[in-house]
Formats: sequence, C-alpha cells, structure tokens
Amino acid sequence: MPKYDLIFRIAGDGGEGIISCGDLIAAACARSGFEIFTFKTFPAEVRGGYAMYQVRTGSETLHNQGDTFDIFCALNSESYEINKAHLLPGTAIVYDDTFSPDIPEGVTAYPVPMTQLSRQLGFKKAKNMVALGVLSALFNISANHLKMLLADRFKNKGERVVQANIDAFDQGLMHASKFEKRPGLQLPKAEQATNVIMLSGNEAIGLGALIAGLDFYSAYPITPASEIAKYLALHLPKRAGTMIQAEDEIASISQVIGASFAGKKAMTATSGPGLSLMSEMLGFAFMSETPAVVVDVQRGGPSTGLPTKHEQSDLLAAVYGSHGDAMRIVLSVENVNDCIHMTVDALNVAELYQCPVVLLSDSSLAFSSQTVPLPELDTIEVVERRRWDSEGEYQRYAMTADCISPMADPGTACAMHIATGLEHKQDGRPSFTPGTHQKMSTKRFDKLKSLPSYYKAAEIDGDATGDADIGVIAWGSTIGVVREAIARLRAEGIRVMGFYPKLIWPMQVDQYEAFAGMCATLVVAEVNQQGQLAHLIRAETTLHPVSYTLCGGMPFTPGMIESRVRELL
Ligand code: COA
Repeated sequence: MPKYDLIFRIAGDGGEGIISCGDLIAAACARSGFEIFTFKTFPAEVRGGYAMYQVRTGSETLHNQGDTFDIFCALNSESYEINKAHLLPGTAIVYDDTFSPDIPEGVTAYPVPMTQLSRQLGFKKAKNMVALGVLSALFNISANHLKMLLADRFKNKGERVVQANIDAFDQGLMHASKFEKRPGLQLPKAEQATNVIMLSGNEAIGLGALIAGLDFYSAYPITPASEIAKYLALHLPKRAGTMIQAEDEIASISQVIGASFAGKKAMTATSGPGLSLMSEMLGFAFMSETPAVVVDVQRGGPSTGLPTKHEQSDLLAAVYGSHGDAMRIVLSVENVNDCIHMTVDALNVAELYQCPVVLLSDSSLAFSSQTVPLPELDTIEVVERRRWDSEGEYQRYAMTADCISPMADPGTACAMHIATGLEHKQDGRPSFTPGTHQKMSTKRFDKLKSLPSYYKAAEIDGDATGDADIGVIAWGSTIGVVREAIARLRAEGIRVMGFYPKLIWPMQVDQYEAFAGMCATLVVAEVNQQGQLAHLIRAETTLHPVSYTLCGGMPFTPGMIESRVRELL
C-alpha cells in the first residue's frame, strides 16, 4: 500500500448525524485495510450544539487524532466559523451551500446542496448521507463498504429509512461527478483487512474484561463510561457472567466487592462523580483485601463539569481518594489496544494482590475507534487469585512471606471467610490493639511493594543508553500525542526522549529517577489544571519536572508538544 496519512473532519450540530457519518467513514476505512484513529467531541445536550468527528486514516500505525485536518466537511455555518482558522493551503472543504464561506487561497471548495437534495428526497435527516456520498466520490472512500455499513447502521429504523439514505448517498455520489478531484487527497485502493479489528476504547475495555475471565459486572450509567456496560450486557451473559445495572455507584461497587468476596472476578466502570461516590467502598476493599476493579473513564470535572469532554484530572482522586491509610493500584491506558490488554492486567493484579485497582481511561479514548491487532488469546496471561489449599488452619489474613494471604471461597469446609472493614487479626476477628493495627497496616502496604518491579517497566521512547536535552513524561492517551511529537523532533536531530508509565501507583520510582538521569530537562504533559502527575513525581521522587498542562476539554495535539519542547531547549 502506498504511504499516506489523511485526516477528515466532519462538523455540524448535534442531531445532524455527524457521529453516524464519522463512524461510517472510519468503519469503511478499517474494512479497506487502512489504519484508523478517530476523535469525536459533542455537546452534553441530546440535540443541538457543536458536534465534531475526526477520522485519521493512514498506511502506518496511528497514535493520535493528528494536528488538524486535510478535508473538512461542514454541515452548517457555525461549524465552518469554528474551524475556518484551520483551512490551510492544500486542504479541502465540502460544505452545505445554504451558507457562503470565505475560501482562503489554496483551499479547494466543494459547495454541495446537501439540505436541498435531502429535502427533494423527502428525508431531511439524510443530509449527512448526501455529504457522505460526496466525500466518498471525491476522496475515494469505498462506496461499496459505505453502502453496506449505512444499511446496517439504520436497519433498526426500517426499510424506508435505509432506502432514503442510500438514495441520498447516491445523490451525493452523482453530485460529486461535477467536481474536479484535488490530487493528493485520495485514499489508496481498498485492500482486504486481515487480523485487525476496529473497536472503541470502551468496547475494548469490555473485550479485555471478557478475556480476563470477568464473572460479574455492575455499574450505574454515566457518560463517558456507559458503553462498557452496553458491551458487557451483550456479551457477558454468553459466558454465563452476570451484568447488573445498579441503582447508583455506591451500590455498584458494593455489589462488585460482594461478588469478589464470593470468589468471582468482578468489575465496575464509572466516571469522576461516580469514583467520588465509590471512595468509601474502595477503602473497604483495601481493608478487607478484596480484589475489585473500577474503570474510571475520566471526563472534564469537577462535579458534573464537562460530561462529554476530555480531561485527565482524576489522577489524584484515583490515588488518594479515601480516608485512613488506604491504597489502591492505579493503571492508565494509552490507546484502544491497551484498553484490551490492560483491562486484563487490572483484573490480574487485583486478584494477585487482593487490592482494589483503578484503571484510568478518558473520554477521548472511550469514544475513539482504532484498528488494533486481533488479540492472540493463547499469549495473554490470565491470573487467578491465590486460593487456600485446605492445609492446616485457615486464617483469612494469614501472615505470609509476601504478605498475600490465600483466600477461601465462602462455603469452603473448615474455612471461615471473613471480610471486614474493622481492623482485624490474622483470623479476621476484629481487634483494635495498637499492635494489631500496626502489624496489619504494614501487611497491607508491604504486599504492594513488589508491584513496581513485577509490572512491566515504563516504556522509554528513544535510545535508553543515550542522553537527551528534553525528556517528556506522559500518561494515558497523551502518550500517543507525545510519541508523534518526539518522532518529528528527532527527525530534525533534536535530542528528546519520552517516558510512558502505565502503572501510575504505586510509582516505579527507580525508573523515573533513571530516566531523569538521561535528560537535562524533564517536562510532564497532561490534560488537567494542576499538573497532577507532576505533583506526584515531586512528592515521590527527587525530581522537579516542568509541568505542561492543558485544561480546555480537548486533548493535546502533537504540534503543541513540539512547540513546548522547542521553547524548553
Ligand atoms: N438517517 C436516519 N437517522 C439518522 C441519520 C440518517 N441519515 N443520521 C443520524 N441519524 C440518527 C442516528 O441514528 C441517531 O439516532 P438515535 O438517537 O436513535 O440513536 C440520531 O440521528 C443522532 O445522530 P448521531 O449521528 O448518532 O449523532 P449526532 O452527530 O447527530 O450528535 C449527539 C448527537 C451524539 C451529540 C447526542 O445525541 C448525544 O448523545 N449527546 C450527548 C448526551 C450526553 O451523553 N450527555 C451527557 C449527560 S451527563
């Protein structure tokens, strides 16, 4: 396949079918054997407000949504106004001819009577499909794939709707034949996609949970985490698992802990406000040493904040959000592939260390569709909890060499399984003596000391034996953006390296220190106001990185990271 990298951006009002249009382009590209990485942002309202969908497609693995677009499709004038500054020479704009934009020099304009054509068909809703037909013809997005996909997408709405959409798409195709194609903006010939799947971050978390052997899932709906429940509601019962929509987040985490107490692998997913509600029970899971996984799909906060927007601002809540001396393991995912494999890791380490785990995702990843290799199930390690072998006297909190006590499922003969939030002795009975509290607190913390070396090392992007002027530390989906910025800078000979931890807590302190030893200046890039990871680094290591934060509800672009690195040189 020839090398290429193209970015489509479609924008309009919520309710105009921007999301449907973008999803169809992404799926058609994936079916054509192309790499894809999508980004969408939409309002909290069910109808109205600015909605935007960006599909980046290329011949090589893509790590982020890109800086801006090559092809812009505007369904209304407001979306044009928001995006006009990005209409650079070499880009193209397809727009509804109900408005007349100023077309900058070097930009190719394709006015299309989207509203008029869909009205003539008697189905105004199909305006987006007129646009899709034009995009297909002008930029070589497989029309066959698109027609099949759109028929499938709208089939629940009835035969008449499907036919009206196909007619609208055909109108778009025909209308585009009037235009001259701008060279350099066409996708290559479609190929057969093999051994790849296209998934969103949320779906991938559901898939990872199934691979890890999840038995029980309970959650309360919340944007942007709800699709995890939607996915598991469909697939968990097929493997005799149980999925419950609880009455609230406190109930869902309580049910998860109860199921885990009963010997089942259990998980919930939520977003910031739900994580706050769960903090009491997360403390209980730590105290009772009960495995439990909470996926926190972060969104703009605090409070109800920006419920559909991107932010990485729950880190401190994930790490510290409990009373008393309580810990939890915190992992964070970079991309959709991680969402599969690190959900397995999250369930594995929860079982292994008998500790609550918070897996941090974020809204841009939750809604991002990406092509990922089909998981090779034989190569994925699934860990089971250490169970009591019926030898000797059972003590739920027996002191062992690694401080991890074997568990017995309730009902096991001669094993009284106690899970208590009260301080307890090794047999689980309450005890409030100074000696017990000291000893058992130490046990609960000491068992986690091996995790930073047990868990895979943070990736170093660059020559780990060399030295760099700037070292960029990033976590979560910001990593993908930093990867591209670093690759571009290095291509220019700039000495810059990246450090990408996936185990956030407990911290892999030695690895941070070793990385810092290779870099003259350290900068931490993250999407929150306070510089939350930078804060943790300062607290836990001897390092004092520069904090580079962004807090506008949108992710970084590679260009922003590039510019910041240049400023620091
Ligand atoms: N023919 C028929 N139906 C079409 C269509 C077409 N050509 N194009 C789109 N539609 C339908 C879609 O199927 C969808 O129908 P549904 O509501 O039955 O699922 C609807 O029109 C909206 O289209 P879609 O493409 O999914 O989204 P959009 O780009 O128009 O934007 C959203 C709408 C996504 C912004 C809005 O619906 C939404 O969900 N907002 C977020 C709400 C939220 O989570 N708030 C936070 C609360 S805390």
